[in-house]
Amino acid sequence: LPILVVNGPNLNVLGTREPEIYGSDTLERIEQLCRARAASFGRTVEFVQSNHEGVLVDRVQQARNSHSGIVVNAAGLTHTSVVLRDALAFTDLPVVEVHLSNVHRREEFRHHSYLSAIAVGVIVGLGAHGYVAAVEYLCASSAG
Ligand code: DQA
Repeated sequence: LPILVVNGPNLNVLGTREPEIYGSDTLERIEQLCRARAASFGRTVEFVQSNHEGVLVDRVQQARNSHSGIVVNAAGLTHTSVVLRDALAFTDLPVVEVHLSNVHRREEFRHHSYLSAIAVGVIVGLGAHGYVAAVEYLCASSAG
């Protein structure tokens, strides 16, 4: 089963958005890297980005019986969204939370995540490498 990679608001403009914080990789580039890593395990990833919380909730709910795990960078929704957390919990799938930047070096309001308590692990500060490592972990640990 594919791995779902969920990207929250404003990640569509990655590459031009605050590059000193988020780097110059575009989301398309990160998607390519994730696909390549999954392919080396004979697995696939499905990538989704939306600026709309409800669209993400719909996609996450649908993953329950059709995907083997979820990588999530919920972006700003990380710090606000009980509903995305509840949708992720509903899936009963292993969830890895990823942030491009080291949120703990940044503003206080980025230090709390509603998602971390339902994630198997959290990767912050490693840019695109964090996504790739999360995909690799789920490929190695979840049934294909
Ligand atoms: C982010 C960190 C969040 O605090 C921020 O709102 C984002 C991106 C990251 O990948 O570093 O949009 O999730």
